[in-house]
Amino acid sequence: MNKGGTLDFMNSVLIVGSGGREHAILKAMLRSDRPLCFFAYPGNPGMEQDGCMLVDRKVTDFKDLADWANQNDIDLTIVGPETPLAEGIVDVFRENGLTIFGPAKRAAELESSKQFSKGLMKKYGIPTARYEAFTTKDAALEYLHKVGVPIVIKASGLAAGKGVVVCDTMEQAQKALNDMFDNRVFGAAADSVIMEEKMTGEEASIFVLSDGKNFRILPAAQDHKAVGDGDTGPNTGGMGAYAPAPLVTKDILHRVEQEIIVPVLDAMREEDRTYRGLLYCGIMLTDDGPKVVEFNCRFGDPETQAVLPLVKCDWYEIFKACAEGDLHPGLQFEIDRGYCVSVILASKGYPGNYEKGKFITGIEDVEHSHSNIDVYHSGTVLDEDDRLLTNGGRVCAVTAWSDNLADAIADAYLVVGDVHFEGKYFRKDIGAKGLARLHRESSMVSN
Ligand code: AMP
Ligand code: GLY
Repeated sequence: MNKGGTLDFMNSVLIVGSGGREHAILKAMLRSDRPLCFFAYPGNPGMEQDGCMLVDRKVTDFKDLADWANQNDIDLTIVGPETPLAEGIVDVFRENGLTIFGPAKRAAELESSKQFSKGLMKKYGIPTARYEAFTTKDAALEYLHKVGVPIVIKASGLAAGKGVVVCDTMEQAQKALNDMFDNRVFGAAADSVIMEEKMTGEEASIFVLSDGKNFRILPAAQDHKAVGDGDTGPNTGGMGAYAPAPLVTKDILHRVEQEIIVPVLDAMREEDRTYRGLLYCGIMLTDDGPKVVEFNCRFGDPETQAVLPLVKCDWYEIFKACAEGDLHPGLQFEIDRGYCVSVILASKGYPGNYEKGKFITGIEDVEHSHSNIDVYHSGTVLDEDDRLLTNGGRVCAVTAWSDNLADAIADAYLVVGDVHFEGKYFRKDIGAKGLARLHRESSMVSN
C-alpha cells in the first residue's frame, strides 16, 4: 500500500467537479480494464456509489488541493468545470509537480475572455460573427444606433452561461446594455462587452482532445438549451443532448477541422498559449459554412453524457497523453458507430425557482436492469440516513446508447419513467431533430 491507502499497482485519479459531466467522465474511465483508484473533489453521491472516494476535508485553495493530491499520490487530475480552469488550477498543480488534464489559465481565456477569443479569431481568420468590443455604455449605444438590430450582446467574462442576449428589438438591446453597464448584473464579467452580428443556423458542439498540437475529434453532439419541447421557453444549462448529430456531416466536420480546429490550436501555440485539454467548439452551421459561436475550455454538460459512451479507449491513457503533450497516433481511440441520447430530469420550476430535498428512487434499479443505460447524477445529495434527495435544478441525466438513434431515444424515454421524484420535469423531444434529419435523408435517397 502507498501513503494514500491505495494499492501500489493502481494509478490514482482525482476528478474536480460535481456534475453529470464529471460523473460521465468517471463512468467512461471505469469502462476500461485499467485498475484505477478514484477520488473526486467535491464529487456527488452517484460518483461515490460508483466507488469514487470524495475528498472529505475542506480545501482552502488550489495549492491546498495540490498538496492533498501530492500527499495521496494522485497520478492524474481531470478538471470538469470552467471556473477552476479560468482561475488557474492547472498552473498551480503543474507548479507542484502534478499531471493535470485541462488548459493553463492563459489558454483557458479562450472561454473566460470573449474579447480574447474573438480577437484571436479575427487575427487568424477563423470564421465567426463580426463583432466590436466596448468598455463604455456610450460607445456601445453609439454602435447600436449605427448598426441596429438584430444584434447579439455578450459579457466578455464568465457569466455561468447567462451572459449572452440575442436582441431582435432596440428595446432588448438597450436593456441588455443597461443591465451589463449600469446594473452590473454580470459584475466584472461585463467590464468588456461584445456586440456581434446575429447568425442563423443550427448549432452543434464539437469536442476536441488536444495535447497542444495533436488532436482527436469526438462525435459531434447537439445540446437542447431551451426548457420546453420544440426549443421553446427560457434557456437552461441544457435539457439533454444526443450524439453523433447527423447535422454535422463528414464534409462539414472536415471543414470544421481545417477552418477552425487546426487554425485555433496553431494560433494558440503561436500566441504562447499552447492549448492542452478539451476544447469545446460551439459551432453554428450558417449558409456561409460553419462558424464559431463560442469556444469553451472544458467538456460541455450535458453533451459529455451523450458523447463519452460512444468512445472506446483507455481514458486514463488519453487524458494523461493530452496533459503531457504526447497524444500520439498509436494510442487506441475508437468511435462507436452507434448513437447516444441523454435526457435531463430537472426539478419543477427550473431554470427559475425550484424546490430541493425531494426523495429520488429508481436510479440503481434502472442501471442494474439495462446494460445500455447510465444515469449520471448532477443535483443530488444524500441525507443523514443516506437517502438520495434532489439538490439542484438539473437532477440527473438518463442516458441510453444503441446501434441506431431511434432505439437510443426509445430506450432513454422508456426508463425515464422509472426514476421518480416529486416535480420531475423533462423534455420529450431530445434527439428528435436528429431523427427527423435522418428520416429526411433516407427518404431523399430512396426517392
Ligand atoms: P454563447 O454562450 O456565446 O455560446 O451563447 C449562448 C447562445 O446564444 C448560443 O448557443 C447561441 O444559441 C446564441 N448565440 C450566441 N452568439 C450568437 C450569434 N452571434 N448569433 C446567434 N446566436 C448566438
Ligand atoms: N451545454 C453547454 C455548455 O456546457 O456550455
